[in-house]
Amino acid sequence: MAENLAPIGIFDSGIGGLTVAAAIHRALPNRRLVYFGDTAHLPYGDKSPNAIKHYSLRITRFLAEQGCETVVVACNTASSIARNEIAAAAGPHIKVYNVIDPVAEHVASSYNNAGIGVIGTKGTIRTRTYPRDIQRLNPTLHVKSLATPLLVPMIEEGFFNNNISQTIINNYLNSKHLKGISALILGCTHYPLIRKEVERYYRSAGVDVLDAASILASQLKRDLHEGETRLAEHHFYVSDFTDSFEKSTRLFFGEKVRLETADLWATL
Ligand code: DGL
Repeated sequence: MAENLAPIGIFDSGIGGLTVAAAIHRALPNRRLVYFGDTAHLPYGDKSPNAIKHYSLRITRFLAEQGCETVVVACNTASSIARNEIAAAAGPHIKVYNVIDPVAEHVASSYNNAGIGVIGTKGTIRTRTYPRDIQRLNPTLHVKSLATPLLVPMIEEGFFNNNISQTIINNYLNSKHLKGISALILGCTHYPLIRKEVERYYRSAGVDVLDAASILASQLKRDLHEGETRLAEHHFYVSDFTDSFEKSTRLFFGEKVRLETADLWATL
């Protein structure tokens, strides 16, 4: 008899988290995904902690209503600000993953006496969640972080893999705040798309470039049942629909996907 495994719920502030969905889809192709992008409240990078907690808890409830028993917080900003509240609100029957814990564990067990860099939104960097977690797990590591707010709008405009984007990226990576690192964490949903440019910057420096999406996907592959065949299609919801969001899904997921609207904040 074919198995009927619960779908994996994934959410983000927008469609950037489709990079995480794509990594999970590659790791577990037989598992059905339910994705929610909170495009009505995008970007989370500049929002207050209270707003992000409020949105995240509502979305988690929505994914639970869709039958998800696993919820992945794909957004680094929401993970760094609200992961404890989300896990507590989800209750004992839903396992919540976030993009920070697996990366912190990976770094803490792979490096010693080294500098580790992290780049992300202002919201992610301001919380200092990455440095705190990594240093708690491995006190020999020094974590250096830098907010790189121009990168999200740049990537969303499809502006990467060209001279101007390389100049902006080089400019950020040249910062004195990122000197002397052995690895750089790409701490934002969008940054897997500029991985090549970051690697190009570090090409002769021997700096490892770590992307949270693939590290998290490997953890899910270890923890979850793979499933035998996928019985139903993935579902991709957004809180506010525009054609341009749908067009951009190809950038982040690798293929265009059909977005459905679910306005969780509609007042009737
Ligand atoms: N998804 C966000 C993150 O990973 C980036 C976009 C935003 O600011 O909402 O931090």
